[in-house]
Amino acid sequence: MNKYFVIGNPIEHSLSPLIHNYWFKKYKINSIYEKTKLETSGLRDFVEEMRINNSIKGVNVTVPFKSKIISFLDELSPISKETFSVNTIIKENKKLIGYNTDATAFQKTLEENNLWLNSSSLIIGAGGVTSSIIWGIRQLNLKDKIYIINRTKEKAEDLVSRLVPGLIGSGIEVLNWGEIPGVNLVINTTSLGLKQNDNLQLDFKKYQNKKECIFYDLIYNPKETNFLSNAKKRGNHIINGKMMFLIQAKQAFNLWTNIDPEIDAEILKIVNL
Ligand SMILES: NC(=O)c1ccc[n+]([C@@H]2O[C@H](COP(=O)([O-])OP(=O)(O)OC[C@H]3O[C@@H](n4cnc5c(N)ncnc54)[C@H](OP(=O)(O)O)[C@@H]3O)[C@@H](O)[C@H]2O)c1
Repeated sequence: MNKYFVIGNPIEHSLSPLIHNYWFKKYKINSIYEKTKLETSGLRDFVEEMRINNSIKGVNVTVPFKSKIISFLDELSPISKETFSVNTIIKENKKLIGYNTDATAFQKTLEENNLWLNSSSLIIGAGGVTSSIIWGIRQLNLKDKIYIINRTKEKAEDLVSRLVPGLIGSGIEVLNWGEIPGVNLVINTTSLGLKQNDNLQLDFKKYQNKKECIFYDLIYNPKETNFLSNAKKRGNHIINGKMMFLIQAKQAFNLWTNIDPEIDAEILKIVNL
C-alpha cells in the first residue's frame, strides 16, 4: 500500500487525511494518507525517509515548514520558487519536487469573484501563506497596487523585499498596522480568528454598506470569524477559506495520482465545512 503524509506542527486539527482518504477510497487507489507531527530538527530525516522509502509517494507540508522544507528538495515548480513556499511534494524517479497548490487554489477562488478586479487590494498578515496570496492576485491583476499591513511591520517589509518583479507588478506598499486604505478586496492571512473570540481590532468603518467590497478570510474553521461576521454586518461580500482549502487538496491529489477528484456533497459533509 502506498503512503502519503501531511507534516506540520501543530497537525492535530488537520482535515487533510479525511479528504485524501475519502478520495483514495472513491477512486479505488490502494493508498493511505496520515498526519505526522514533526519538530524542525526532524525535517531532514523525514525527507530522507521519503526519498528512500518506496511506499511513500507524496507529502503535504503545512505550518511552519512550507519554506523550511525547500532546502531539502531536489527541484521546485516555478510557482514554489516565486513564492518560496511548498505545500505539496511529489516523487519522480527518486527526485523530490516541491509544488505550491495554495497559490493556484487561491487564484481559482478569486476567479469566481470578479468584483474586485479594477481595484487595489489589502492583505493583512505577512506569514508563510502571504506570498501565495500575492501570487494569486497578480495572476489576475498586475495593474493595481497591493497594500500589506502586519502586526510586525518588518516581516512584511522583508517579505516584499524577497519578491520577484513579476509579483511586485504596479507596486506593493507596506502600511502601518491600523492604516486601512480604501480597496475592493481585503484578505485576512493572519492566524487570528482561529479562536472564536479572536478579533483583529482594525477599524473598517469606511467599508460600511460597500457591497462591492470583498472580505476574504483564509481561515475556514470557524466558518465565520469575527473578521467575516463584522464584514457581513457592514454589508460587504464575504468569503472564507473553505474552497481554497478543498481546491489545494484537489490539486495535490491530481499531482500525485493524475486523477482530478471531485469536490462532491459527501466530502463537504465529511469535513463539515
Ligand atoms: N484556506 C486555506 O487553504 C489556507 C491555506 C494556508 C493557510 N491558511 C490559514 O492562513 C493563516 C496563516 O497561515 P500562515 O502559514 O501564513 O501562518 P504564519 O506563518 O504562522 O503567519 C501568521 C500571521 O498571523 C499574524 N498574527 C498572529 N497572531 C496575531 C495577532 N494576535 N494579531 C495580529 N496578527 C497576528 C502574524 O503576524 P506577526 O508577523 O506579527 O507574527 C503573521 O502575519 C492560518 O490561519 C492558516 O490556517 C489557510
